[in-house]
Parts: sequence; C-alpha cells; structure tokens
Amino acid sequence: MSKDAVLKFYDAIENTDALKQQCKAITRPEEIVKLGAKHGYFFTGEEMTAADADYTQKREKPLITIDSSDSDKSFPQAYHYEFKCSEIPGFEEISQEVEKLEIKPDTVDIELFEKSFREFDLQFANVSPVSPEFKARYLKSLETYLDLGVEPRPEYAWSQFHLINLDRYVDHALYEDYFNSKVKLIKQLEYFFETDLRFSGSLWYPPNAYRMWHTNETQPGWRMYFVDYDNYEELTGEDRAFFRYMNPETKELVTIAEKTKVVRFFKIESAPDKLLWHCIVNRTKANRWSFGFNLSHKWMNKLLIF
Ligand SMILES: [Fe+2]
Repeated sequence: MSKDAVLKFYDAIENTDALKQQCKAITRPEEIVKLGAKHGYFFTGEEMTAADADYTQKREKPLITIDSSDSDKSFPQAYHYEFKCSEIPGFEEISQEVEKLEIKPDTVDIELFEKSFREFDLQFANVSPVSPEFKARYLKSLETYLDLGVEPRPEYAWSQFHLINLDRYVDHALYEDYFNSKVKLIKQLEYFFETDLRFSGSLWYPPNAYRMWHTNETQPGWRMYFVDYDNYEELTGEDRAFFRYMNPETKELVTIAEKTKVVRFFKIESAPDKLLWHCIVNRTKANRWSFGFNLSHKWMNKLLIF
C-alpha cells in the first residue's frame, strides 16, 4: 500500500518540473519522506527502500543525472581550486543564500556528539594514505563505532565521520526555511553556471569535528563546496582547521588552511591510481559548515576564464 505511495510520488516527481527541481536539493531519504508527506504521499523510509528496488529495475537511469563527462582537458589541470566568494562577480546573492543554510538544529544532541570525540581518530589525519600502517588502520576505522548506549546509533559515533549531516535532521522548526533556501540556491547556481547541478551533502562541523580519510570514488566528477565558519578569530593556522588531500601523482600531502566564505572545487576520480584521498579537521572553537554539490566541468567556463 505505502510502497505504492512511494512509486506514485516518484511518478509525480518525474512529471513535475518543480518537484524535480526540489529533488536536486535533497541528499537523504528522510528528506524524500518529508517532501512526499507535504504533497500527500505518505510512506516511511523502510517502505521507500523496498520500493526503490522495483523502481531502479523499471528505470534505465536515475531521475536526476549530472554530466560528469571528461571534457575539461583544455584547462590547466589542478586537483583543487579555491575562490573567496566575495571575489566572484555575481556571487553576492548566492553567498547570502548559503549563509541561510548555516543552521544548528535543536534536534541534534550536541552533548552526545561531544562525547563521541576521539583524539585517536582525529590524529589519523596525520597518517599519509601511502604510509605502511595506513591500510589496516583505514579498514579498521570503517567498521569502528563508539558505543554511546543509544539506539539508533548516531552516524557521528563512527570513527570516520565525527560531524553532523544536516539533511538527516528534518523534524525541527528550521527545516522548512532551510529546505526552501537549498532549492533557491540550486536555482541561483544553475543560472550562474549555466549547467545542472545538485546537492551532494550539507554538513555541520561543530568544534572538534572531523571527516577522516576517504575518496568518494563511487561518485566521480567535479565537486563544489561552499565552506564557512561562524567565528573567523578561531581560525589560527593550518593545524587547527584544514582540508587535506594527497596529490595522486606525487603522493604529497597538501594541507589547505581554511578561511571563511570560500568556494572550493575538486575532482573525484574512480580509477585506482587517480583516487583523491582527502580529509577535513575542525580543531577550533568555531562551527564550520560545508555545502557540497555535484556539477559538470562547465563551472570552469565561468570561473577560470577571465
Ligand atoms: Fe569527501
């Protein structure tokens, strides 16, 4: 019955441009359940999972696809590009909209989050992916969760992921405005870049949060991240707040000290010799937010040609 509601909602999405556009702002099943209910389609996350199996068989390609083809060869190849938002003409309104997403939902149990901090896990950022001890420690971290004595187990208790995925939190007073701002931001960004894009993740890094070494290899293509902090004074040196990656060719670790209000681009590859290992640490007393997007190489036409 409710599985039926899921499939009917998917059909509605496919046939309604406004809904399709809203789906580009969604990164979590919790958000689809919420959007379905808003439009009169009632189902649970479990019912959605069950329906998805049928749906994927029926469709040849997913509802929303972003061009990840490799036609950016004419540009100087770098693994990472970063711009101050204030230095991009035409980014003023985009910047303002990003700020509206910088929320701290009151449904996040911040004390429990703090309790799940582990210095050992954070220090893994100092181990290079090519060092002999890396592989064993990485594989171990993938399956290590801190037992906080609560069910369901929070995602931030995972050794790899000590941060808050905002899109998992849909039942709080700020969610509706937050969601509307995400949808508006997609529209503004598509207009600016003249290409389709979609959210890939909306993340809140409270003080001492970290995202440990990973490659995102299952979702290759260009990634754009807006990064901001709520207290610039707290950013004092690259050992406190950084984005670190390993250059796939030279194996050198590159550490980018973080600044407020920047937009960062990097390319995720899936070939084993081109994996972009990266990690993020916020060792400050400030809150960090990052809002990620999948987008095509066409962003380069707008920002690399002056
Ligand atoms: Fe990542």
